[in-house]
Amino acid sequence: MTKISAIETRNAENAVAPLFLERWSPRAFDGTALPEDKLLTILEAAHWAPSAFNFQPWRFVYAVKGTPEFDRLLGLLNDFNQSWAKAAGALVFILSKTHAAAPGSSEEQPIYSHSFDAGAAWGLLSLQAQLLGYHVHGMTGIHFDRIPEVLGVPEGFRVEAGVAIGKLGDKAQLPEALQAREVPSPRRPLAEVAFKGAFPTA
Ligand SMILES: Cc1cc2nc3c(=O)[nH]c(=O)nc-3n(C[C@H](O)[C@H](O)[C@H](O)COP(=O)(O)O)c2cc1C
Repeated sequence: MTKISAIETRNAENAVAPLFLERWSPRAFDGTALPEDKLLTILEAAHWAPSAFNFQPWRFVYAVKGTPEFDRLLGLLNDFNQSWAKAAGALVFILSKTHAAAPGSSEEQPIYSHSFDAGAAWGLLSLQAQLLGYHVHGMTGIHFDRIPEVLGVPEGFRVEAGVAIGKLGDKAQLPEALQAREVPSPRRPLAEVAFKGAFPTA
């Protein structure tokens, strides 16, 4: 194990850039609004993700803390996520477009990788936020049933996840059980998830 970053609970087996270990998902945010230009930089980075046929199927609906839109988006999180994400500086919902016309065709077909591509965008979003000194926390504890209507989502989009973005705050503001979880998590050994040539035989 190599000690690559100052994060005590994280050791990487291979020499990744510290950024990857320093990104983690806190629940204690400091309650300050994320400046909109920073938020747009974060979304711009996400938008530069690769995607099949360059379809760019990701969509983002965002709101900055202290605005009526923020309260509307906050209401789309489940009660647990609302309890801590209310102190985030911005909220974003990520959606993906499920169909598109391939080059040379006028007929829209299912995009096999629409969620995969939106996931790539989310990954870049989280790293750009980290580079700017912010933290990001993804959430699928959200009201999937209400989101299309409240956010005015047209037909043909899948709601992927919600994201809270903000400056790290004092964990003392969280209930005790959550304070104990306010630590960057480890990872299982790489050999459990990366296989040379084929899955290992049982
Ligand atoms: C798609 C997705 C959905 C998640 N949903 C929630 C959620 O609803 N509530 C929550 O507190 N954490 C949620 N998480 C945070 C994960 O639990 C966290 O990313 C994971 O434990 C790894 O920790 P790390 O991000 O600090 O490395 C979610 C993360 C992702 C990527």
